[in-house]
Amino acid sequence: MSEHNHHDATLWGASTTCVHAGVAPDPVHGAIMTPIFQTSTYVQPAPGQPISYDYSRGGNPTREALEGSLAGIEGAKHAISFGSGLAAVQAVVQLARPGDHVLVCDDVYGGTGRLFRRLYADYGIEFEFKDLAGTQDEIKAAIKPNTRFVWIESPTNPLLKVLDIEMIADVAHQAGAKLIVDNTFASPIFQSPLKLGADIVMHSLTKYIGGHSDIIGGALMLNDDELEEKLRFIQFAAGAVNAPLDCFLLLRSIKTLAIRMEAHQRNAFKVAEALQSMEQFNEVIYPGLSKHPQYDIAKKQMSGFSGMVSVRLNGDFQQVTRFMQSLKVFSLAESLGGVESLANHPETMTHASVPPALREQLGISANLVRLSVGIENAQDLIDDLKQAASFALKS
Ligand SMILES: Cc1ncc(COP(=O)(O)O)c(C=O)c1O
Repeated sequence: MSEHNHHDATLWGASTTCVHAGVAPDPVHGAIMTPIFQTSTYVQPAPGQPISYDYSRGGNPTREALEGSLAGIEGAKHAISFGSGLAAVQAVVQLARPGDHVLVCDDVYGGTGRLFRRLYADYGIEFEFKDLAGTQDEIKAAIKPNTRFVWIESPTNPLLKVLDIEMIADVAHQAGAKLIVDNTFASPIFQSPLKLGADIVMHSLTKYIGGHSDIIGGALMLNDDELEEKLRFIQFAAGAVNAPLDCFLLLRSIKTLAIRMEAHQRNAFKVAEALQSMEQFNEVIYPGLSKHPQYDIAKKQMSGFSGMVSVRLNGDFQQVTRFMQSLKVFSLAESLGGVESLANHPETMTHASVPPALREQLGISANLVRLSVGIENAQDLIDDLKQAASFALKS
């Protein structure tokens, strides 16, 4: 990766970093975009003496350029790119051993919880889900002598709780545990967990970084050389790499990440403010609203509030269904972070795998709708939500 990192990206603003960090023109032809090295293997001049790569599970120039770019945008020394967000999560879990305890924030993406509960709990790793939006003492109390990792999202999915990354990193480190932050919702543009003390940052590249709802991918970013070597070995040994074409598409996506994020957050703010004053919505959750319970923490650790807004419709499941089906600009779909606005119903869609009792305790109720606010015209989005809510709730 180092040969691509010949710029000092630490001195750049975010939009310059997105366009230039980690990438360089192709040294053979000068192609400004990194070519798609669609190859599984590489010819070697002598046995066991590859030129620079031997096999694409272990390394590929397009993936390496992507990793340089990902490291640049997250301000990390290393980035490792995976075939999906969950493949990146899984690589971290493979660092744990039977008997280890992993403390997880209670409001995590349903698929992350499913991976922990339904797959890795059977391997003797103990996953404990707790509300980590509490005080330092509460978090200290949740840590056990065998806590190896603390796993958090901030903002969380789907309730957009904001967790104090710096404080949790301190508590974890005092106990000898490592903190991993899923930074998918904030994106590298609005939050830098490594600078707040996190040991590893994880992203679903499928979301804001990909940004166009056309690829599945994941990444880990970190500064620690030893940890990087272990994770790279896990990836090489277990094989969860992404394809060269997907790496190329991601490289292309990252060029516009900073300007897309500005548009997402501008629109999300307008949508959140507009819905707040409508009687059809009981609650509007957005970290950028001053009434958000962790607004002060959000302001402290985020440079923007991103594009996710969760709302509770003042109606029952049938009315919520009618609302979602009546949207014309928003699409009813899982996922988030693409240029197009999406509406998701966590209870029956992304978080259907959360145990029902926990779902109820968290407040993932039938009337909760998670909006991924896209980059369309803000007024068109507000008008769409208004017409669908009025139609769904008319008696
Ligand atoms: C916050 C968060 N983390 C991780 C994932 C998993 O990523 P992927 O779907 O790319 O495997 C998702 C997917 O929805 C997510 O929203």
